[in-house]
Amino acid sequence: MQALILAGGEGTRLRPITSTMPKPVVPLANRPHLELMISWLRRHEVDEVILSCGFLADGVREVLGTGERLGIPIRYVEEPVPLGTGGALRFAGDLLAERFFMLNGDVLTDIDLTAQLAQHDATGARATIALIGVDDPSAYGLVRRHPDHSVSEFLEKPSPDQIDTNLVNAGAYILDRSILEQMPAPGSNISIERDVFPKLVGQGLFGFASDGYWIDIGTPGRYLQGTFDILEGNVATDVGDALEGARGVLADGVALEGRAVAPVIIGQGGAVAASATVGGRAVLGRNVSVGPGSHIEDAVVLDGSTVGSGVRIRSAIIGPSVTIGDQCVIESGAVVGQGVKLGAGNVLSAGARLFPGVELPDGALRF
Ligand code: GDD
Ligand code: MG
Repeated sequence: MQALILAGGEGTRLRPITSTMPKPVVPLANRPHLELMISWLRRHEVDEVILSCGFLADGVREVLGTGERLGIPIRYVEEPVPLGTGGALRFAGDLLAERFFMLNGDVLTDIDLTAQLAQHDATGARATIALIGVDDPSAYGLVRRHPDHSVSEFLEKPSPDQIDTNLVNAGAYILDRSILEQMPAPGSNISIERDVFPKLVGQGLFGFASDGYWIDIGTPGRYLQGTFDILEGNVATDVGDALEGARGVLADGVALEGRAVAPVIIGQGGAVAASATVGGRAVLGRNVSVGPGSHIEDAVVLDGSTVGSGVRIRSAIIGPSVTIGDQCVIESGAVVGQGVKLGAGNVLSAGARLFPGVELPDGALRF
């Protein structure tokens, strides 16, 4: 079965990480997000991937290539300008089979697509949307259903007074090619959520309620949550399996003199100095060094970053190739972009975001 993955959004809510890296390949537990997604798809008989790209497309191609490393052919479709979620589908039309999966490229999930497909066939649907329960549906597409699972209403980004169910669109669809015929010609900007699904109500649109793990990783808080859930095995992934086999500590090829507290992943070429602690719930990318006495917990530090001595990092995301001076404190949802250089004694907290390339002298910031 074929899978069309939408990976053309700008990922604005995950800036500054996505200022220099396309959201689809932002690493989660040291694996490009789409790689995790593809291994989930492969568990459900997907044997061909079409990636619909736009923003920073070359960056995606560089990381995933033809798919050889992942054992699955990947083809790319590049929109000249972003065409929206429906426009991207229409634009990929020539490559699509009679029936295929379509996925939002920014969700981390282990939804049972095989069961979704079985329901799709049993109901004779033309489109089946996976649904997931969330606490606050306002950031998602709200879906109401009839008892036979057919969709009675699809409301993208509902206002508070419209919310009467917690089931939302999980961004995983099974679509029949026939729905393309009802869409405007390729090249128009179309939202599948606002322009296509509402029109398909009563014409073969069904919802499949899933109880799998699911999270949209598109904000710093949810990116961290997704990372922790991989580390804790709350979502089924290959990385989680590997961690379990290694008693919660993956640190191959690392000069580990300090402590690694499970669950933790430290990438190849890393160095953790004596009296430093990394973990629990921390991921360090490749070639990250951590100085003496530093403590990194509930946090992600991407490839090639250098952490000085006596530093505290907690509930934060540090981008690649960042230099953090001695005694800095970075916490409470702070996000630091690629190549930032922080002098000693800076304090970042409460959702501070430093954009790529920023350089701060010693003690400049107490945010
Ligand atoms: N190729 C392409 N072109 N892809 C796009 C474009 C585009 O113009 N616009 C968005 N995408 C991709 C994004 O990269 C992302 O993977 C996916 O489409 C969804 O876009 P988001 O911008 O992340 O949408 P959202 O999170 O606000 O809402 C969507 O996802 C929710 C679940 O996470 C909707 O589908 C909601 O209904 C859904 O509940
Ligand atoms: Mg999203």
